[in-house]
Order: sequence, then structure tokens, then C-alpha cells
Amino acid sequence: MNFPNIGLGTFRLKGEVVQQSVQDALDIGYRAIDTAQIYDNELEIGQVLQKSSIARDELFLTTKVWVDHFTPEKFIPSLKNSLTRLQVDQVDLTLLHWPAPKMNIDLKTTLELLAEAQNLGLTQHIGVSNFNIQQVQYAIDLLGKARIFTNQIELSPYLQNKTLVSFLKQNDIAITSYMTLAYGKVLHDPTLKQIANIYHVSVAQVVLAWALHHHFHVIPSSTNQAHLTSNLEAQQLVLSPEHIAMIDGLERNSREINPEQLAPQWDL
Ligand SMILES: NC(=O)c1ccc[n+]([C@@H]2O[C@H](COP(=O)([O-])OP(=O)(O)OC[C@H]3O[C@@H](n4cnc5c(N)ncnc54)[C@H](OP(=O)(O)O)[C@@H]3O)[C@@H](O)[C@H]2O)c1
Repeated sequence: MNFPNIGLGTFRLKGEVVQQSVQDALDIGYRAIDTAQIYDNELEIGQVLQKSSIARDELFLTTKVWVDHFTPEKFIPSLKNSLTRLQVDQVDLTLLHWPAPKMNIDLKTTLELLAEAQNLGLTQHIGVSNFNIQQVQYAIDLLGKARIFTNQIELSPYLQNKTLVSFLKQNDIAITSYMTLAYGKVLHDPTLKQIANIYHVSVAQVVLAWALHHHFHVIPSSTNQAHLTSNLEAQQLVLSPEHIAMIDGLERNSREINPEQLAPQWDL
């Protein structure tokens, strides 16, 4: 299964809420789901997938290994536990959730464990999340460029990560934008509202279309069927170069997520 441009995020969603969101998303036509060990919802997502009539090879499932499991004793068993909870033999993509430089992580060992998980067939692809340029370069040097499938990073009109994005593009590493809507913050932006009015679409659709224009993969989360539908339909929206440039100009290095123990020194 190719990596769909739009998937469903599931951060913060648990129990019946995540199940309804995933069920609605699959019914609407989403074929990619993004979860993580720390989201504590793999089990519930697995139950929905189990009941679904969608063939496994038509779904793109991503999970992320939590930093507490970045040891030789815990890494592979924790991923096997994720597969058990998700009720699959293999996920499509496994990411290291954070580099966690202040937690005495042995990055070399952790990356080798990630590669071993792929060699064992537990995951089709491997990648990283919240890595800066130096850390991605380290992963490339250790495992080879072709092996690093994506870097999943916070990326919205208010945080465009231009230096990191250009490095990833140069190295043919897919860019996954998380919190593309800045968890709703960008939806009140006057420039985005103005553009949305011109196309008679929602602000969320404008933002997602802008991200897709830049070849970012997006994984917006929603518990609302209308939002899920319109977010998916953003794929059909083509913005003019002038409007893309206006959104490019909204950059303000405004980061929503920056946990001290987990985050790297971000590239400016
Ligand atoms: N790798 C990492 O460290 C990391 C960190 C954070 C997130 N992520 C991933 O990225 C995903 C997305 O991030 P996120 O969920 O935090 O934030 P987000 O997708 O930027 O925003 C989600 C919020 O926007 C609202 N929303 C969605 N579509 C909308 C629409 N069309 N109109 C109006 N409001 C809309 C949702 O509310 P409603 O439910 O009301 O629609 C929800 O409150 C996560 O779920 C997770 O899978 C990864």
C-alpha cells in the first residue's frame, strides 16, 4: 500500500471516541491511520479494523514506539505488543516517536533496533518523528538514505520548518505534517479566512490543500463526521500560486508541542 497523502490522526482520542472516529473515517474513505503506543488507543483501533471489511493491504497503519521502549530488552517486544493490540501481523510504518536527547537514549542502538524490526517483518517501512536535521543525517549515515521513509514533524502555516523541509526533500524523505491545523489555532486566521471565502471552502480545507501542494502528508484528527469528510475532500482543492505564497508568508515559528525531555534542538 502506498503512503496516502491524507490519513487520520488519533492523538488524544480514546475508547469509544477513537473507535467512532476511525469507523467514520474508514466509511468516508480514509485508508491511513496514525497511532502511537503512548496514545493508549491501539487496542480500540484494532477492534475497529478487525470488524472492518476493508482488506489489510488497502490500509496504511502507522504506529510509534515510545521512548521508554528504546532499549534492546523492550523495543521489539513493545512493537510486537502493538501488533497484537492492532490485530495485524505487520504495520506499514513504525516511527521513533521522539529523539529524547535528554533521556540518555542510545540513538545508534535504537535506530538499529528499528531496522531490526523491519528485518523481522514487523513493519513495512521505518521512520522517525520530531528529529532535527542532525539526527536525520545520523540515521541516514547509519542505516542508509533509502531506509528512512519519513520524518513526522509539527508543521502548519504558523510553523513551516523550511530548513528541515528542504533537507528532507533533498534526501527524498517523505514529510508528514502533524498538527497541520495547529490543533485548531490557524482556523481563526484572517488571511486564511479570506482565501477560504474566495474558493467557498473551509479554512481547514485551505490549510490542508496548502500542505498537500507542498507534498506534505497530513494526518488531521477529527471526531466530527462533517470535518472528516471535508478534510478528505481538501485533496480536490487546488490553490493558485498567489494564494500559496500568501500562506507561505504566514510563518511565525509558533510551536504547539515542545516537551523539554523529548524534543531536540529545533532547526531554525
Ligand atoms: N509525532 C508526534 O509527536 C505527534 C504529535 C502530535 C500529533 N501527532 C499526530 O498528528 C495528528 C494530528 O494532530 P492533532 O490531532 O493534535 O491536531 P490537528 O489535526 O491540527 O487538529 C485537530 C483539531 O482540529 C479540529 N478539526 C479537525 N478538522 C477540522 C475542520 N475541518 N474544521 C474545524 N476543526 C477541525 C478537531 O476537532 P473536531 O474533532 O471537532 O473536528 C481537533 O480539535 C494527531 O492526531 C496524531 O496522530 C503526532
